Amino acid sequence: ERAGRCVVAVDGPSGSGKSTVSRRLAVDLGARYLDTGAMYRAITWAVLRSGVDLTDAESVAKVAGEVDLRIGTDPRGYGVTADGVSVDREIRGPEVTRAVSAVAAVPAVRELLVARQREMIANSERIVIEGRDIGAVVAPDADLKVYLTASEAARAQRRSAEDAADVTVTAADLARRDRLDSTRKVNPLQQAPDAVVLDTTELGIDEVVVRLRELLNERGVA
Ligand code: DC
Repeated sequence: ERAGRCVVAVDGPSGSGKSTVSRRLAVDLGARYLDTGAMYRAITWAVLRSGVDLTDAESVAKVAGEVDLRIGTDPRGYGVTADGVSVDREIRGPEVTRAVSAVAAVPAVRELLVARQREMIANSERIVIEGRDIGAVVAPDADLKVYLTASEAARAQRRSAEDAADVTVTAADLARRDRLDSTRKVNPLQQAPDAVVLDTTELGIDEVVVRLRELLNERGVA
């Protein structure tokens, strides 16, 4: 049952349940898992460490090109390192979260990471990839494209629970980041025309995963 190539693209705004759903699905499918947001976050960590100006696209791109970024693809636990330093905790911190949209908007940074992501997909039999531009740009030939949404209130609630942060502050941060991620010129957050849209405001994680497995079954890929 676990034979054959299978590529699943999962996109959506932050707090839509992407990571939980993607990891769970990857475990079920016996697939690899790639968190592309963690890649943008690790580059952002390196940019902040270097001290270059975030608005200086050329310098940001230079740092991105020079950092040795490594990311695991085990859905049960993956590590991220930048120049040999483990940055798992740092990339979830407020400094990186605040700066990541600016770094992710630099075309050269996207070019670099999209190429890396495509390479990782090509080297995996089965993989679930999550991000913002996966179905539309990174993996246009994916077997299944999913776009997860949820109400702003539900998304802010989930993120503030994860970060143990104040929900009003989280809501404002989320709204700002979503606006930046959706309006940037290159590969903004977008719903591929052939994506299956699921609203997770009311649906539980389990229900979403079951639905995705049904869709894969119907398509004869898993
Ligand atoms: O999913 P996340 O919150 O960890 O993503 C962090 C940031 O990275 C997000 O604000 C936008 C950016 N990102 C992106 O531009 N393209 C992707 N494929 C994944 C993330």
